[in-house]
Amino acid sequence: MDKFVIRGGNPLVGTIRVSGSKNSALPCMAAAILTDEEVVLENIPQVRDIETERKLLVAMGAEVELGYGRAQHRTTISCRTISDPTAPYEIVKTMRASSLVLGPLVARMGVARVSMPGGCAIGARPIDLHTKGLEMLGAKIGYEHGYIEARAERLKGAHIVFDKITVTGTEDLLMAAVLAEGETVMENCAREPEVTDVAALLTAMGAQIHGAGTSTIEVKGVEKLHGAKHRINPDRIEAGTFLVAGAITGGDLLVAHCNPAHVTAVMGKLEECGVRVEVAGKDLVRVRGDGALKAADISTEEYPGYPTDMQAQYMALATQADGTSTVTENIFENRFMHVQELVRMGANIRVDGRTATVRGKTPLSAAAVMCSDLRASASLVLAALVADGESILDRVYNIDRGYEHIEEKLRGVGAQIRRMGNVFQGKREPEMAAL
Ligand code: UD1
Repeated sequence: MDKFVIRGGNPLVGTIRVSGSKNSALPCMAAAILTDEEVVLENIPQVRDIETERKLLVAMGAEVELGYGRAQHRTTISCRTISDPTAPYEIVKTMRASSLVLGPLVARMGVARVSMPGGCAIGARPIDLHTKGLEMLGAKIGYEHGYIEARAERLKGAHIVFDKITVTGTEDLLMAAVLAEGETVMENCAREPEVTDVAALLTAMGAQIHGAGTSTIEVKGVEKLHGAKHRINPDRIEAGTFLVAGAITGGDLLVAHCNPAHVTAVMGKLEECGVRVEVAGKDLVRVRGDGALKAADISTEEYPGYPTDMQAQYMALATQADGTSTVTENIFENRFMHVQELVRMGANIRVDGRTATVRGKTPLSAAAVMCSDLRASASLVLAALVADGESILDRVYNIDRGYEHIEEKLRGVGAQIRRMGNVFQGKREPEMAAL
């Protein structure tokens, strides 16, 4: 299993480039199921979850060509033949977002079988809102042998009000509604940029959608969708992670190829912490961490609020800020897996229910730590970048799920970070003599 070896202490200086959004790319790849023509996606990130989704689509009979190493990270997907509309347990258990194929499969094929996802590291994460919405669109839902089976001759437009805001739930039902007969109105929808991104692809494929990016989305169902080409949005969570990296290391970073409008909440919080952060161009944000960091509270919310996917990274920063910061996690019930590892590095953090209290500033000392989930891992990378000595991060496959070549990107701006172990993403770092 790969590890990262990180020696802390270097301020990050220079330009760091943001890749395409994993969380946009996943539903966009699923959207290709809705047509028998080719869908071309540009700016697909080279991360493990995308490879998992490729496997999922190929197992169903699709042809997927991941064009890495060429311009634009272009991916061409052809779902002309779907021989087996199933998302098997072996794949769903490694990536819960596999449930995004549920809506498109029922809409196009009239049947979908998706393994029930079960629990995950950050909470229960059920998909009941997906199935409830599909039922409202006329699908019959059954449960057998650990699988959800959805069937419908043709889905029918409906009025759906989400009990709770769900990002992939909104995307899944949107993809189902575009081929349903008649009109669908969805209320209390997620407003995340990833929803807007998949709606833009669907529109390019011939769907009729109004209101994506707001809490009410209206869809006029069409008989058929056609192929399209679409460029995926920049990854706002990767951009946010790099902004925190610049701030925590006292660096001067230009975060390039991002969409500044999508990182407003993170930028605002960094400013509150005393970090200089400015939009330096249409796809460029500059961050300078040359002053002392001040404590500030965060409370995670749905977009456009402070993202839960940036909570763990903020906590690493808060350990380096003077004063007491409270971090309240409102989206997932168990998303503090990084806390114990940060404490092992010297942080002073107490958790009480959904709130963590961070008392700073405490010096961090390098340690061997375990990456438990994607964003927790990012938080440990950030902590290691300022820790005294050489940290070893185990289970970095969790980082590889969502960050493209993070070690190369960080090394490019002055970090001392190396990958040790097996080959991934076609690269292998030499084993370090000291280890
Ligand atoms: C997506 C993102 C993830 C991010 C999360 C919240 C992808 C692939 N993943 O996850 O990175 O952390 O949004 O911004 O885009 N819920 C239910 N029933 C459901 C669905 C959700 O109760 O059927 C609950 C969840 O348990 C959670 C809350 O709703 O407490 C929000 O989850 P949701 O927005 O669905 O997260 P994901 O779409 O899985």
